Order: sequence, then structure tokens, then C-alpha cells
Amino acid sequence: MTGNDMLLWDETLFKDLSVLEPDYLPDYFPHRDTQLNALRFALRPALRGMRPLNCLMVGPPGTGKTSAVMKVFREVEAHAPNVMPVKVNCQIDSTRFAVISRIYKKLFGISPPTSGVAFRKLFENVVDFLVSSEKVLLVALDDLNYLCYEGHANEVMYSLLRAHEQYPGVRIGVIGIVNDASDLYRLDARVNSVFLPEEINFPRYGYAEILDILRDRVKYGFYPKVVSDEVLEMVVSYVEKTGDLRVGIDLLKRSGFNAERRGSRTISSVDVEKAYEASKLLHLCRGISLLSDPEKQLLELIAGKGEIQAGELYRSFHELTQLGYTRFYGMVNKLQSLNYVDADFTGKGQRGRTRIIKTKFEAEDILNCLEKA
Ligand SMILES: Nc1ncnc2c1ncn2[C@@H]1O[C@H](COP(=O)(O)OP(=O)(O)OP(=O)(O)O)[C@@H](O)[C@H]1O
Ligand SMILES: [Mg+2]
Repeated sequence: MTGNDMLLWDETLFKDLSVLEPDYLPDYFPHRDTQLNALRFALRPALRGMRPLNCLMVGPPGTGKTSAVMKVFREVEAHAPNVMPVKVNCQIDSTRFAVISRIYKKLFGISPPTSGVAFRKLFENVVDFLVSSEKVLLVALDDLNYLCYEGHANEVMYSLLRAHEQYPGVRIGVIGIVNDASDLYRLDARVNSVFLPEEINFPRYGYAEILDILRDRVKYGFYPKVVSDEVLEMVVSYVEKTGDLRVGIDLLKRSGFNAERRGSRTISSVDVEKAYEASKLLHLCRGISLLSDPEKQLLELIAGKGEIQAGELYRSFHELTQLGYTRFYGMVNKLQSLNYVDADFTGKGQRGRTRIIKTKFEAEDILNCLEKA
């Protein structure tokens, strides 16, 4: 190897590391025009000072839901001074007080006092401000299911969605973001009767789409020739397993670090393989952390065995959670659609066809993630 192939100690492979950060909002955002347009259409009334349509963005991890909402929010901020968009990360702000505090902070530029103030007081401050300034509030509740598990979603959504009944003249629209619409089964009828969202679906990306998107990140993130076509295709094949673009972006970054650590000017397939060990768990652990408690318990039962018959699994699950077959069946299907488990029928059962359920990841990796979740 000539000196030229080696990286000098102060050199880097990254032209711009920020384009590989998870919260980077790219200019090039292809394959989501339908979803972006549906969202723009739903929000249009807000530009004329009216209440927008509520929306529900639904799709598996890493399919661009949060990014799509942030893109449209930026457009709104640039073109509609009468509209105040606020994104709430419900993983962090998971109580109604935390949610209203986040909104308050966006509107007034300062955090409200953390103690001694009631939710209702802050909510009235927010409403008064909206009415007197004639502004429309848009609230995106990202990872809304977290609010549901904590039991706060009903209170928060009820307050936001019915505000105009109690305070005439106030205009608020709510955008929910979830992995799975069934996460919302905890919303009660009072909320559902006013939420009535436009559902906007984010399907998993396919090979060609992932390649297109990651090629753009490579172009801006790395110096030329650091990532060969073969290496990029390898990364895309890994990402295709889950469809989670976040894994792909993380994988590119970690592969780059691995190559730098070796002092190499190019990323090799071994750099990618090593990086995938960490990146695949990023997806898995984040996905698992988003599951409900009974879903986690179910997954733990499956991972504990590695492979188990459906009947036996149901008996253990029912014993543990007291939940019935319908919920069990729904959860198995959800774990299957998230690609954590395979639930295929085989012909091997004694009484006809038996459903065998097995993990699609190393059971050990799943158990590790469950421990952290
Ligand atoms: N169409 C796209 N073009 C470019 N980048 C994209 C596209 N879709 C997603 N990404 C990138 O993929 C990553 C994941 O996207 P995002 O966070 O929006 O997914 P998400 O659907 O909100 O996932 P989760 O449900 O896990 O929160 C981000 O870094 C984002 O920039
Ligand atoms: Mg998101």
C-alpha cells in the first residue's frame, strides 16, 4: 500500500458529517410527493385563518413521517405568518403538562414555570394568545403512541380538539404520527368523534428508492470515491431487510468511522459488515422500545424460546397478561409485520396445520433490546 492510500491523521472521509445525522432535514426528499401533497392540502384552510383538517401519518420506522411533517412545517413558517406549527416529541413530552409546556414555549419563546401552574392555566394562556393574535395553531404529536401508553393522549387531544367549543374563535389542528393506526385504540370515543383524521400512509421504501435516497447522502456526506457503487449497494441490501432508512444513514456513518479507524481512504465491505452489527440493533432497539408493554411481553416469550407453537405461546401469554385471543392474534400479526418474527403455517402439526412462531433476529439481540427498552 502506498502512502497515498492511507489517510493522514488529521484527514477525514466525511465532506459533511451533518448530512448523516439523524435529525438532518434533506433538501432532496423524493418518493414522498403524494404524502407531502396530502398534508399540504389538509393544512390549506389554516392559511386562510380556518381550522385545518386533522391528520394521521402512519407507517413503519424510518419511512419519512417526521421528516415530511417538518418539511411542510418549514414551508408553513416561511409562507404563512398567521400559522404557528409546533412539533411535540411524545417520547420526551409524554404528559399533557409537558405537551402544553412545549406549545407555550414555542408561542411565547420562554418556558412556563415548571411548578405551581395548572395545565388549565397554561392552556388558557395559549388559547388567549391564539384568539387575540388571530393565529392558527398546528400541533404535530410525533410518536403519539407514547402518549397513549402513558394514558395522557385522551386528555391532550380532547383539550386541543375541542378547544373551539369552549373558547370561540380558537383554531387548532392536530397531526398525529404513529407506526401503526391500531396504536390509537386507546383513544376514547369523545376524542375519536372529533379527531376524524385524514390518514396519510407511508409505505416501506423498496430497493430502488433506498438506493436513490442514500446515493444523495453519500454525495453530500463523503468525499468522492470513498463509497464505491458495490459498497453502496451492500448498504442498500441491508436496509431493504427492514426498510428503515435511519439504519442506512447510521450504517454509512459507522462504516465511514470504521474505515477512518483503519486509516483507509475508502470504505470496504468489512467496514460495512462490522458497522451493521451496531446499526441493525439501532433499528431493532428503537422499534422494540416503541412497542406496548403486552407486545414486549409477547416478544420476550417468543425470544426466550427462539421458536414456539402458537397454541403454547398463547397459553403462556394469557397466563402472563390475562389478555384474550383476539388481542394476542393482533399482536402476533403486528410483530410479524414489523419483521421481528416469522409466523408461518407448517404442515407438521399433529392435528393439521400448526402455526410456528420464531424470531427473525438473533434471540439474544432481541432480549438485549428488551432489557434496555
Ligand atoms: N424520502 C426521503 N428522502 C430523503 N431522506 C429521507 C426520506 N425519507 C426518510 N428520510 C431520512 O430517513 C431518516 C428517517 O426518517 P424519519 O425520521 O422522517 O422517519 P419516521 O417515519 O419518522 O420514522 P420513525 O417512525 O422511526 O420515527 C431521516 O434521516 C430522514 O432524513
Ligand atoms: Mg419519526
